[in-house]
Amino acid sequence: MYIFTTTSISIMKKIVVLTGAGISAESGIKTFRDADGLWEGHDVMEVASPQGFTNNPELVLDFYNQRRKQLLQVLPNKAHLALAKLDTYFDTTIITQNVDDLHERANSKNIMHLHGELLKAKSTKGDIDKSITDCENDIFMGDLCPNGHQLRPHIVWFGEEVPMLEKAIEITEKADILIIIGTSMQVYPAASLVNFVKPNTPIYFIDPKPSVSKNSFNNLTIISKTAVNGVPGIIDDLIKTYKN
Ligand code: OAD
Repeated sequence: MYIFTTTSISIMKKIVVLTGAGISAESGIKTFRDADGLWEGHDVMEVASPQGFTNNPELVLDFYNQRRKQLLQVLPNKAHLALAKLDTYFDTTIITQNVDDLHERANSKNIMHLHGELLKAKSTKGDIDKSITDCENDIFMGDLCPNGHQLRPHIVWFGEEVPMLEKAIEITEKADILIIIGTSMQVYPAASLVNFVKPNTPIYFIDPKPSVSKNSFNNLTIISKTAVNGVPGIIDDLIKTYKN
C-alpha cells in the first residue's frame, strides 16, 4: 500500500544564475575589465596565468594575498542576498565566475565556482585536486603542501582546464530560467554556457553595460541596471509569478 495525498505535487522550476565580477562590484570588489583592461593595476595575464606565476611567483602570490585581505573586509550586497531567496521557491544553482565567497555568505545553497575560490589553496604539483584546502591567510614562497610542494591559490588561471565545466553544462541544459548578472561574456568557456539552455528558455541579463542586444538570444530580457538596482526586483517578480 502506498501513501498518497490528494494535494498536487508541484515540481520546483530550475533556475540557473550565471554571475560575473559585476555582482560583487557594489560590495567593493573591482571588476576585471572596467579599468582599462587592468585588474587592480595589473595585466590580467601577469597575475592570472601559469606563465605569470612562473615568471614572478612572488608578485602573483602577493596579488592574491591582497585580494584575499580585501575579500575578508567586504560584505554581500542586496543582489547576493536577493538571489539567496530563490532557494525557497526554486531549484536554484548559482554558477559563478567569481572567486569571492559572497554568494556563500549571502546563504545561497548550491554554488559552483567555475574559476576557483580565493579562500582555498592547492599544491602546484602531484594530485592537485586532492590537495585543495581552506586558506584565509597569506601564501608565500616556501609555504608547502603536506607532500612538500609549493602552495598556490585555488584559482583557475587562463589557459588552465575548467574542471567544473561539464557539470555546469549539465545543469544549464536543465534550466527553466537563466539569469545572467554582471559579466562581460568575454571569457570562455563560461560565456558559452548560455548556448546550452533549451530553446525559448527565458533569459534575464542584468548589467549596466550589457554586452548582448535584444536579438542575441530568443526570449531575452535585458535589464540595464547595476546588480543592486536590478536583481532584487527581478527576483521578487519571479517569486510572485511562480511561487504557486
Ligand atoms: P568583467 O570585468 O569582464 O566584466 C564585468 C561586468 O560587470 C561588465 O559587463 C560590467 O558592465 C559589469 N558591471 C560593472 N559594474 C556592475 C554592477 N554594479 N552591477 C552589475 N554589473 C556590473 O568580469 P567577468 O565577466 O566576470 O577569470 O570576467 C570573467 C573572468 O575574467 C573572471 O572570472 C576572471 C577574469 O579574468 C579568472 O580570474 C580566471
